[in-house]
Amino acid sequence: MIEEQQFIKPPRDVEPEVQEEEQKIELGLRPGSLQDFIGQDELKTNLGIFIEAAKKREEPLEHILLYGNPGLGKTTLAHIIGREMGANVRITSGPALERVGDLAAILSNLEKGDVLFIDEIHRMNRTIEEVLYPAMEDYALDLVVGKGPSARTLRLSLEPFTIIGATTRLSLLSAPLRDRFGSTFHLNFYEEGHMQHIVKRSAGILEIEIDEPAALAIAKRSRRTPRIANRLLKRVRDFAQIKHDGIISEDVANDALTMLSIDPLGLDNVDRHLLRTLIDKFSGGPVGLGTLAAATQEETETIEEIYEPFLLQLGFLERTPRGRMATTRAYDHLGLKRVDRDVDPYGNGTISLL
Ligand SMILES: Nc1ncnc2c1ncn2[C@@H]1O[C@H](COP(=O)(O)OP(=O)(O)OP(=O)(O)O)[C@@H](O)[C@H]1O
Ligand SMILES: [Mg+2]
Repeated sequence: MIEEQQFIKPPRDVEPEVQEEEQKIELGLRPGSLQDFIGQDELKTNLGIFIEAAKKREEPLEHILLYGNPGLGKTTLAHIIGREMGANVRITSGPALERVGDLAAILSNLEKGDVLFIDEIHRMNRTIEEVLYPAMEDYALDLVVGKGPSARTLRLSLEPFTIIGATTRLSLLSAPLRDRFGSTFHLNFYEEGHMQHIVKRSAGILEIEIDEPAALAIAKRSRRTPRIANRLLKRVRDFAQIKHDGIISEDVANDALTMLSIDPLGLDNVDRHLLRTLIDKFSGGPVGLGTLAAATQEETETIEEIYEPFLLQLGFLERTPRGRMATTRAYDHLGLKRVDRDVDPYGNGTISLL
């Protein structure tokens, strides 16, 4: 059998997932209090009230589910909640919990008021999930002791505690698990002004000199995601140090980001290639996902889960029952003009304005 050759793709500057080498630097940039956490105003207000009320009652907080795209601040918020409650935060994740015993050990070691943060909670396996139900509802752990006919269940009581679950995929969470959270908070993409503020704040911590217009220029290309803003800020700083005196002005920021092929809306070559393929080869669609994947030499899942969400959010792409379609906005952004297929002599649906 001939094995298909695997190409390892370089990481993209605009991907929302955390990259290996930036995990450490992220720790330093993480806001430590609700006050320091920029944006998400409604969520912060509600969470602030929950925390105050629980503290007044001297009870642990009810279980909280945080969901939203990667890089929007779920982990950051979980730590902030723990800190504001004056609680210890234990950390685990869905994929890390391989056996029932793993979770049982963690739960039985929790102290009163502790926070257990379960990242990627949608990736927890179902058997383990079932152990969580009585733990969340009654602070109890049901253990099966013995085997065969003599097996019996032993109920252990746990200290009152709080689970904070984080997920990027709410729809993959089972209904029974979802129902056991007292409150669910959705993290939205950030507004431009908040993104600008985040860039300024991170620059302050990293001792980078930057002015307001430059912070705005970086904010605009950061896909409304703080993690991407922090990454682009660092890229621009490197550029500023080598090509200039280290100070980031609007021109320096724009030059650096253009050099990285990140356009004013935050699209990179990968996004543009996908849109161009859709427009040039399929007259803007509709075209099936499989066909589009074959034409761009990508996996269907990669297109669906990684490339498309941002393009959909920008309104550049539509998912229709007949397949993917590029919108007029996408044509405009790429400087292309949509031509009616019937009158287009070349049949490719576009004429270039460039
Ligand atoms: N509201 C905010 N204000 C300032 N910085 C923020 C904010 N939200 C996130 N950040 C920054 O973005 C980085 C990524 O945030 P975080 O790790 O909390 O995202 P996440 O939602 O947990 O992502 P993932 O889904 O990949 O786990 C943090 O290190 C922090 O510096
Ligand atoms: Mg996280």
